Amino acid sequence: MRAKIIGTGSYLPERVMTNQDWEKIVETSDEWITSRTGIKERHFAAEGQATSDLIVEASKAAIAEAGIDKDELDLIIVATISGDNAYPSTGNWVQSKLGIKPIPAFDLSAGCSGFLYGLIVADSFIKAGVAKKVLVAGAEVMSRVINWEDRNTCVLFGDGAGAAVLEATEEDTGILSHFWEADGNLGELLIQPAGGSAMPASEETVANKKHTVHMRGNEVFKHAVRMMQESAMKAMERAGLTSDDIDLFIPHQANIRIIESTIKRANIPQEKTFINIDKIANVSAGTIPIALDQARKQGRIKPGDNVLLAAFGAGFTWAGMAIRF
Ligand SMILES: CC(C)(COP(=O)(O)OP(=O)(O)OC[C@H]1O[C@@H](n2cnc3c(N)ncnc32)[C@H](O)[C@@H]1OP(=O)(O)O)[C@@H](O)C(=O)NCCC(=O)NCCS
Repeated sequence: MRAKIIGTGSYLPERVMTNQDWEKIVETSDEWITSRTGIKERHFAAEGQATSDLIVEASKAAIAEAGIDKDELDLIIVATISGDNAYPSTGNWVQSKLGIKPIPAFDLSAGCSGFLYGLIVADSFIKAGVAKKVLVAGAEVMSRVINWEDRNTCVLFGDGAGAAVLEATEEDTGILSHFWEADGNLGELLIQPAGGSAMPASEETVANKKHTVHMRGNEVFKHAVRMMQESAMKAMERAGLTSDDIDLFIPHQANIRIIESTIKRANIPQEKTFINIDKIANVSAGTIPIALDQARKQGRIKPGDNVLLAAFGAGFTWAGMAIRF
């Protein structure tokens, strides 16, 4: 028995923030951002729109496509690093806002690998008989946790949500393999230092912008290339597939140069790689589910296709997965 995806949905907030918009706020240029990252624009949530609001929109679309009643769901997993509150979990708000009866709901913190971690947990629970129909969402409102004065990081991120509904299948489709790892020794390279028990909120932490993204970009870049390649290769190997068998590769979209170097090393042609970083930037845990939904809606994934997913993120975490649709 495997778990398969029976519906996907995504939601991007209306407001589009272009590189030119950032030029008015920090010392940067469209040329620098485009050439160093591949990003042209990103979506930012409206005032008052929280992460759960974005997830609700994406989830409604995923549930509708799955053709199930929302009350058939028996588990909600939300992957995010920019949830509504420290607690309760954003998963709880999603359950409440969707008007679903009490079922287990929780958040999962694995940075940009969060959605893949969520799929792996859902797959395991379905195989173990713990859950039958699972909603997995990945979403961020990064615009609220970036430092709007730090050009090194603020231009890299966007807001959005993606969701998938999974159920068991006896067919030769669904999640074929996964690979996941984490190494906390690299935790300091990408961190929101304040707001937790290690550094509680104070006037000083707020003044020093410690509640925002802190990143050593160059270091992250080096690890990312290795982790993305390893995740892609291991997921293919564990599914008994080679790069020739892959119909579409959906990599995490943090930097076009990381994607290009990954596909070169993993021997995957650019035509078989889904790229939307120019339009949505890095939506952390939201990136993969948004891309997956867009790829399906654009007709780039047909029944029987083998799709490869790979991500890396804060933690560090990294993960790969092969899915047959
Ligand atoms: C952040 C990143 C784009 C920076 O690109 P880079 O080619 O490594 O650039 P560098 O860090 O070497 O910085 C080069 C210069 O550009 C400057 N710079 C940084 N951001 C800038 C911006 N938005 N606009 C203009 N200049 C900028 C730097 O200050 C630096 O200037 P200096 O040499 O005078 O100090 C790149 O390192 C990266 O993508 N890293 C991985 C990030 C990532 O994946 N994060 C998410 C993990 S899920």
